[in-house]
Amino acid sequence: MKKILFAGSEVMPFAATGGLGDVLGSLPAAIKAEGGDDVDIRVVMPLHSAVTDYWRSQMEDVAVFNVQLAWRNLYCGVKKLERNGVTYYFIDNEYYFKRDSLYGNYDDAERYAYFCMAIMRMLSELNYFPDVLHANDWQTALSVIYPKTLFVYDERYRNIKTVFTIHNIEYQGQYGFEILSDVFGMGSEYGQLMEYNGCINLIKAAVECANVVSTVSPRYAQEIRSPEFSHGLHHELNNHAGKLCGILNGIDYEYYNPENDVAIVSHFTSNKQEGKYDNKTALQSELGLPVDKNIPMVAIISRLATHKGLDLVADVAYNFVVNNNVQLVVLGKGEAKYEELFLSLQEYFPDKVRALIQYDRDLSKRIYASADIFVMPSKSEPCGLSQMIASRYGAIPVTRETGGLYDSIKGYWEQDGEIMGNGFTFANYYSPELEDRMYAALGLWYNEEKRQKLIKKIMETDFSWKSSAVQYMEMYNRL
Ligand code: GLC
Repeated sequence: MKKILFAGSEVMPFAATGGLGDVLGSLPAAIKAEGGDDVDIRVVMPLHSAVTDYWRSQMEDVAVFNVQLAWRNLYCGVKKLERNGVTYYFIDNEYYFKRDSLYGNYDDAERYAYFCMAIMRMLSELNYFPDVLHANDWQTALSVIYPKTLFVYDERYRNIKTVFTIHNIEYQGQYGFEILSDVFGMGSEYGQLMEYNGCINLIKAAVECANVVSTVSPRYAQEIRSPEFSHGLHHELNNHAGKLCGILNGIDYEYYNPENDVAIVSHFTSNKQEGKYDNKTALQSELGLPVDKNIPMVAIISRLATHKGLDLVADVAYNFVVNNNVQLVVLGKGEAKYEELFLSLQEYFPDKVRALIQYDRDLSKRIYASADIFVMPSKSEPCGLSQMIASRYGAIPVTRETGGLYDSIKGYWEQDGEIMGNGFTFANYYSPELEDRMYAALGLWYNEEKRQKLIKKIMETDFSWKSSAVQYMEMYNRL
């Protein structure tokens, strides 16, 4: 039986802020479903204060020990619970994880270094050594670095094969040199391994140490080898190109299911789409917009950050709203300039625009289920899950051809009367191209027969985890 341990800073439904949490919440169970008795799948995450009592009350204490992190001697409790055939471990230390947010604390480097060191200690305390340790993003980089450095003299650690998945190369864990010995507990002999462009860089060292480096779409695996996308790491990735692979994420088809989702008002399927329009009129009345199923609704659900392509949206939104009988609904938080942009559009066009500056999963599902067109023009997008969720709920995606958007959404065209593609896409990061595709989507939407056919095609595109889980299994087996 192959033993695989996932390490990550956030995991749905316990504590999550974004796509990483979605993936770590659904991929391990999908691999278990695929591998059955051939695989033993476990996941380890910090016991963040965001983990509710509902989950805490189901946990069992499995170990208590001390963790040495450089000169610090720290408490560590390990709790566990089983769910969907997967064992979840939670690293308990209130000093580090009883915080208001998962990230953004001044001592994040130390908090997650502790987490990784606690994982190392947990393995020997539980006498559980996985065949594969699969770490995700900079927060868990040290968990693939330690077995090849501080623990390399112990063959139980040395023999662990490691996979490091980059969900977003923008966040690399870069620090000054003092962190190496003072926090990571590593001597200067590791300086060269840990250094990149004059500072300590966790992603760089994880790329060096891991047996396989993966990213969350095939296209992004290519893109990050070029300076345009690499945030400085292309030399490193090109040196290790042989380790690099890209596997497209999926989404949880049970959690995201318009056929029985309790978060939405009316259920629907690709063959019975009418329910979608009941969701729309319900949302229109909830948001105080004119209630009319014949007004097309355009949605954006996104972190309001520049790399999500919001400057393109800023260029086109005003004219698009002025010149068309449409409704624009935006959900998300982020940079002040974008929050202000959408709030001021709402002020100018109270009958057309809603700026919902918040995160709310259930509300997001009501919007996906209601929206006719879903706009996601990212500048870069490692995978992107929103375009898949939108597709599942029958909203026509308008996306830029980058990263996972490129791999998941193909532009609309017709061949012998057949509709091809599953959305509207554009290549260049140029707002007239976005505008052009938004008009194309709108034009198609007004043609009811074509609309129904395209929505059916979109809803039936397979974004489940199944094929990706098979690819991960193959990767583990190759190791
Ligand atoms: C990050 C990426 C996003 C990806 C997600 C899950 O949030 O920005 O594109 O879908 O990780 O892998």
